[in-house]
Amino acid sequence: MKIFVTRQIPEVGLLKLKDVGHEVVIAGGEVLPHEVLIERLKAENPDAVLSLLTDKIDQTVFDAAPNAKIFANYAVGFDNIDLEAAKQHGVVITNTPEVLTEAVAEHTVALIISLARRIVEADQFLRDGKYEAWGPLLLLGMELKGKTLGIIGGGRIGRRVAEIMQKGFGMEIVYHDRKNNEAFDNELNAKYAPELDDLLSQSDVISIHLPLTPDTQHLFNQELLAKVKPGSLLINTARGKIIDEEALAGALQSGLLSGAALDVFENEPTVNSKLLALDNVIVTPHIASATREARDQMSVVAADNILAVLNGEPPKNPVV
Ligand code: DGY
Repeated sequence: MKIFVTRQIPEVGLLKLKDVGHEVVIAGGEVLPHEVLIERLKAENPDAVLSLLTDKIDQTVFDAAPNAKIFANYAVGFDNIDLEAAKQHGVVITNTPEVLTEAVAEHTVALIISLARRIVEADQFLRDGKYEAWGPLLLLGMELKGKTLGIIGGGRIGRRVAEIMQKGFGMEIVYHDRKNNEAFDNELNAKYAPELDDLLSQSDVISIHLPLTPDTQHLFNQELLAKVKPGSLLINTARGKIIDEEALAGALQSGLLSGAALDVFENEPTVNSKLLALDNVIVTPHIASATREARDQMSVVAADNILAVLNGEPPKNPVV
């Protein structure tokens, strides 16, 4: 059968597909514009599609690939896919959870430490030739031990970040989710905040680990940002549209937030110029899951989901 891959991904999963005799067509090395994706699907008429988070998969895409039984998304997030349209077309949608938990958690931790200790700012200071002498007040940061880390979203990634920061750095953990979570309560002795406002008012570091949904879009607007503990740090490795970047720039300019570290942006790949102008903002280009290990395993998981569906079996990671 024919599998259309919308952009080159690590080979390892694709080899699994080829090994059992499937034909694998890779569109190329760049993001496909939406019209081109539709054209290519019409021309190829695949039995399965391996899509990326940069592909907008909507009704028109499903119409263009009427024989595709599955769209295996190469990501844990699936906000790029119209799930209602998928249901109407009877198409299976899968994602790649678990295998990227460690990579995203480690990147989040790297951002927390870099922001708290002003690593990126200090590196730039030195490269700019500004380092003249050791200084007792030079580039003072925040010590993390004993401070409170607020985790928003009780899934695997948030839990792993909490575990590393508690066990490795001695941070106190408070978390917010729709309901409390036994792993947080029992294994991390974390405090559950049923109200998001309570988490915001007590957290020195806030880390967002939510999916993008109509409920979470612009959750961090001006009104919510006004509720943070003054001087706190905000980290986002989830989805950019959860934060209103204009409101975030305002909270940083006023000093309400001491800093922000962002791996994801409201209008990727564009980043709000006000944020880029601030020294207390760290930006990385959506690379939280970008370890060789995670990206290889994401390729294997997506391929396994396709193999299962093409064999008439249930996939391991269905979303619809
Ligand atoms: C995901 O998987 O959703 C990340 O954002 C990219 O790996």
